[in-house]
Amino acid sequence: MKTFKNIARYLRPFWLVFLVIIALTYAQVQLDLTLPDRMSDIVTNGIQYGGIKDSLPKVLSAKTYEAMAQFMQDADAAKFTSAYKSYEKGEKALIDGIEVNFATSSYVLKEDYDKDLAKIELEPFIYANLARQNDIEVNEQNAEALALMLDETLRGQESSFEAMAKTYLRDEYALCGVTLSTLQTNYILNSGLLMLGIALLCALTQVISTYLATKLAARVAANIRKDIFKKVEGFSNSDMDKFSTSSLITRTTNDVTQLQQLIQMLCRIILIAPMMGIVSISKVMRFPDLIWILVVALTFISIVMLATLVIAMPKFQKIQGLVDRLNRVMREFLDGMLVIRAFGSEKLEEKRFDGVNDEYRRTDLFVSRVMSFVMPLLMFVMNMVTVLVIWFGASFVDINVISVGEIMAFIQYAMQVIMSFMIVAMIWIMIPRALVSVRRIFEVLDTDYSIKDIKDPIAMPQGNMTLAFENVSFAYPGADECVLEDITFDAKPNETVAFIGSTGSGKSTLVKLIVRLFDVTAGKITYGGNDIRLYRQVDLREKIGYVPQKALLFSGTIRSNIEFGKEVSTQMLQRAIEISQSQEIVAENSQGLDTPITQGGTNVSGGQRQRLSIARALAKDPSIYIFDDSFSALDYATDKKLRKALNDLVSEKKATVFIVAQRIATIRDADKIIVLDEGKIAGIGKHNELLKTCEVYREIAASQLNGEELADA
Ligand SMILES: Nc1ncnc2c1ncn2[C@@H]1O[C@H](COP(=O)(O)OP(=O)(O)OP(=O)(O)O)[C@@H](O)[C@H]1O
Ligand SMILES: [Mg+2]
Repeated sequence: MKTFKNIARYLRPFWLVFLVIIALTYAQVQLDLTLPDRMSDIVTNGIQYGGIKDSLPKVLSAKTYEAMAQFMQDADAAKFTSAYKSYEKGEKALIDGIEVNFATSSYVLKEDYDKDLAKIELEPFIYANLARQNDIEVNEQNAEALALMLDETLRGQESSFEAMAKTYLRDEYALCGVTLSTLQTNYILNSGLLMLGIALLCALTQVISTYLATKLAARVAANIRKDIFKKVEGFSNSDMDKFSTSSLITRTTNDVTQLQQLIQMLCRIILIAPMMGIVSISKVMRFPDLIWILVVALTFISIVMLATLVIAMPKFQKIQGLVDRLNRVMREFLDGMLVIRAFGSEKLEEKRFDGVNDEYRRTDLFVSRVMSFVMPLLMFVMNMVTVLVIWFGASFVDINVISVGEIMAFIQYAMQVIMSFMIVAMIWIMIPRALVSVRRIFEVLDTDYSIKDIKDPIAMPQGNMTLAFENVSFAYPGADECVLEDITFDAKPNETVAFIGSTGSGKSTLVKLIVRLFDVTAGKITYGGNDIRLYRQVDLREKIGYVPQKALLFSGTIRSNIEFGKEVSTQMLQRAIEISQSQEIVAENSQGLDTPITQGGTNVSGGQRQRLSIARALAKDPSIYIFDDSFSALDYATDKKLRKALNDLVSEKKATVFIVAQRIATIRDADKIIVLDEGKIAGIGKHNELLKTCEVYREIAASQLNGEELADA
């Protein structure tokens, strides 16, 4: 239920388009389903009766006219005689657009005749013709007796009077001099053109509604993709961990495409099939004698569909799972290509891939086999319906209850009913599959952020402020042990604070807390005296230039990577490049700043990547700089130059700098060095003080500096 509500939320802005689609679809179905009736009309009236569509005579020979009058009551006879106009032999008249040169004296129906006339004339017309066939003169004396006699003879054939009349009418028209072939051609041509017009109109409604449906579905899909993207942008690391990266990608692409198809289907066949079905059923209802064939066929199809569902449905679901696995194996293989090759483990990977691939093939084949059995079976049923309708319909045609054209129309309507039924059944199979995707999409969209802005965030103070940790402890979500414990220190403007400690001591974790990539578990971090959780995340991050431990570049150019969507003056850009010692990277390439960078920055070296991501942080012009082990890939000389240039910039701007480093040399000039050991502070102070007071620091220093340098302190 919630799933449908969610889809509805995205469809709501397009309700008008949706209504138009429904209206167009309805028009399309109505138009489409008049065609078999029109065809029936051409076959019956156009071909069988030579273009004579109703039994009311338009022209009568004088002889028949007079005989007919004899068979009528006086009142009827008066009505009848006054409805026709007399013409002499050799006179000309235009009847239904055909010029008639009368071969005998005739009577032509006037334009404004009484509607009852058809009923009044039907029997007398047949009687008059029968009498003529049998060479019986009709006159005042014998009319009544003759009528009684013919009435007796024709008893039980009343249902076919219309057909009889139409057949006699041909002779009557021929007698009067109407060219029958012209009559027929005109009729077929007119009906044909009308059918063509309807077909074109039908196609037009279909094109428009398909166009609208496609557009609507694409728009909804784009909106959802945008929303997922926005949502994921706000994800913290722990939110990310809930879904894997590849799962998020499949959800944004594959699952959204599934949903898009579902919507498109919803706007087209899911609307059409039931409408088609219902209208077609109302049409076949006109032939109650043949309905049982349809009932039998539908029952049989239901059984086949149900059996297919039971056999193949579980496999359908399995296939989805296998596609996921195939993707995962393939992804891992592509990502790890270099390692796999270096370790020569291609055979193992191949085996892993073959395993999944083989299972996929087998399952797919099974489903295809079942399907290949089902389709011919259904075709067989449809053909059997045709055969049965013709077989049993023939006897009804024989007694003139149903015309040949109507049988043909019935077959077409019956096919429509069967097709609609099958489509509805297919939809029931497909919808649950699509709904799985929908659910996966909204799982992402409905995720609650673990790091949120508070309701009424406070304004970020202007200028540079002190950042302070107050008894901060932190454990990763889901972990029991704290990675950081009871961390307290502060960093004032124009101060450089360095962190040093062994691998895994929590340095990166600590600086991530400043950027609010995670929120503290206990204690608080303040900026300008306020808990950083009171500010808006964007405001906080605006203040910070963060260079993560793993330097990351994006596909684009050197310039786009440094500017990173911000307005950066040429001067600032130049300075950022200079300080980060990236000049040579720019100079090295003929395209300079516009040198392309590949996805993940794989076309520059690790050190170059590091320097460019430093440039990115500098170009942002923040008031807090965070360098997480950012100088490790630089050689000593470059490291030194960079720090010198950085110091100038920082003291000029009175910024706060956090440096995480492994090398004592990098941090020995820092105002405050914080030594971390297993998540706890082992010592705080300047280089010289720490050498004296902090055992951990002394050990690190001893391993890096020579005796002289240590003694210097
Ligand atoms: N996303 C995470 N989920 C759970 N535990 C983590 C996560 N990231 C790091 N840890 C754990 O937190 C501890 C500290 O990691 P951290 O990355 O802060 O260390 P570090 O001091 O930066 O190490 P290095 O010098 O190698 O960069 C480690 O023991 C690590 O296992
Ligand atoms: Mg680290």
